[in-house]
Amino acid sequence: MRDILKDLEWRYAVKKFNSNSTVEEAKVDKLKKAFNLTATSYGLQPLKLVVLANKSVQKKLVALSYGQEQVVQASHVLVFCIEKKIDDKYIKSYFHKVKEIRGTDDAVLEPYQQALIKEFSKKDSADINSWATKQAYLAMGNLLTVCALEHIDACPMEGFNSEGYNKLLKLDDRGLNAVLVMPVGYRAEDDIFSAFKKVRRNLEDTIIEWN
Ligand SMILES: Cc1cc2nc3c(=O)[nH]c(=O)nc-3n(C[C@H](O)[C@H](O)[C@H](O)COP(=O)(O)O)c2cc1C
Repeated sequence: MRDILKDLEWRYAVKKFNSNSTVEEAKVDKLKKAFNLTATSYGLQPLKLVVLANKSVQKKLVALSYGQEQVVQASHVLVFCIEKKIDDKYIKSYFHKVKEIRGTDDAVLEPYQQALIKEFSKKDSADINSWATKQAYLAMGNLLTVCALEHIDACPMEGFNSEGYNKLLKLDDRGLNAVLVMPVGYRAEDDIFSAFKKVRRNLEDTIIEWN
């Protein structure tokens, strides 16, 4: 049986990608589907993923990523975006989908829909931003694991200028805000980080056994 821990050991935050390697379309498709299968709070999926494979745009991203070259070397750059507005219309469209797919009665859905509309009407844009950003982290965590299983290399990145990305990728026009970036591809043979041992706290310092 496959030992997932071996794959997780194999994975590391790549500092240098092989610029000449491309992630196969079938694998990129898998990442898109895995992104969409991520669990989210209430199932509302306040997320979109930009899948960017355009070297001239990637080149511009370097300056917007504090000079981190991974974004131009990588085969694809995944940009995790959050929806800035979660209003009645958005929530209703989710419940419409539940009804369409599961055939659930309005009588069952309506109280839940009303409760969510009420809940979200109390949140200001900072609350929505914070809630949705947590969902984006979950999606990135999910994709990091999927990448490890598929032996696709990746680098999770918080180090970028969100406003700059929003402007360059015209995310504002779509009501989106870039919150995380993840270049994916294949590690360069001379990425010295690939040989580094993992630095982690001891298991007994991070796990609390409560029997
Ligand atoms: C949310 C998050 C943001 C990160 N941002 C960056 C980044 O901007 N640039 C970078 O090179 N590594 C970044 N990292 C990689 C971490 O430094 C790395 O995951 C950590 O040191 C553990 O090493 P490993 O992933 O190679 O096992 C980030 C990791 C996470 C989870």
